[in-house]
Amino acid sequence: MRILGIESSCDETAAAVVEDGRRLLSNVIASQTELHRETGGVVPEVAARAHLRALVPVVRAALAEASCGWDDIDAIAVTAGPGLPGALVVGLNAARGLAYGRGLPLIPVDHIEGHVRANWLAETVPELPALALVVSGGHTELLLVEEDGSFTRLGGTRDDAAGEAFDKVARLLGLGYPGGPPLSALAATATARTLSLPRAWLRGSDDTSFSGLKTAVLQLVQSPNPPPRAEIAWAFEESVVDVLSEKAARAAERESVASVLLAGGVAANHRLRERVLERSPVSVWMPPPILCTDNGAMIAAAAFAHFDERVRPEAPLDIHPTVKRRPPAKPLRQ
Ligand code: KG4
Ligand code: ZN
Repeated sequence: MRILGIESSCDETAAAVVEDGRRLLSNVIASQTELHRETGGVVPEVAARAHLRALVPVVRAALAEASCGWDDIDAIAVTAGPGLPGALVVGLNAARGLAYGRGLPLIPVDHIEGHVRANWLAETVPELPALALVVSGGHTELLLVEEDGSFTRLGGTRDDAAGEAFDKVARLLGLGYPGGPPLSALAATATARTLSLPRAWLRGSDDTSFSGLKTAVLQLVQSPNPPPRAEIAWAFEESVVDVLSEKAARAAERESVASVLLAGGVAANHRLRERVLERSPVSVWMPPPILCTDNGAMIAAAAFAHFDERVRPEAPLDIHPTVKRRPPAKPLRQ
């Protein structure tokens, strides 16, 4: 079974063809990073207009790269939320139009679940139940993936998402957008490595908080004699990685899971990957960096697990910008 996955929830217009939820036939990503660099972050309306321009060429490229015609596609999957409303509307309606025109079923997908399912795009698949840590620009979520593949939310951010914290601190340090990769590169050049920044443990909870850490960096940057920027970047990265890896490991122990799954843009972070591997009590799964940041393949992979919930494209469907678990659409009876 081949599913075309379409993703447009934030600043990447992406499409991919995935076979049986596992095998990547193509993966095309048009990033809007350059467009948003000037403003130092995503401007929703600008993002939505850019999705509109990129979507058709990206879908065409994904089919061509997979050597597929429309007859080779069994369903179209699309991100229904969470994400930027205008950006989601573009992807969802393009997917509906394509599905309607080609007589294909449609599978609306939760973006967070998509990130987690990127771990299935591999030779072997994770053993369930699993503890998933989803860390992206918009989300920090600790989820329990049950044996039947359903998700239970254990906790998440109370303020800034992990990626958002990376982006904001990078800005304070005069680095470009998105801030994660340049901040991490700067941190790697630190030599003293003695600076310590606060960690919000929120003991007894699976929640996280990074706004206090962000303020600590701001105060340090504005102090009369600030430490070198590389030292600040290093201490910031250590603080975030320490809290995330420790919280994931403790939740994994408590829930007696069989594996730990990393996902989302920040899962591309080298230090986080290293520390989660070191600290986890069970085997760790993490997608290659290109499948950590937003992509269409993860949406197609998640849709494969929800094939029974496919709907006709003319069914009433809506975006879910903030709702974590979308209400089930009426399944297509065949
Ligand atoms: O998953 P994603 O592509 O988009 C959302 O769903 O939000 O994640 C993007 C986020 C950005 O905040 C970016 O700075 C962060 O992931 N990121 C990183 C790294 N690569 C991307 N953060 C830390 N280290 C990285 N290497
Ligand atoms: Zn994402």
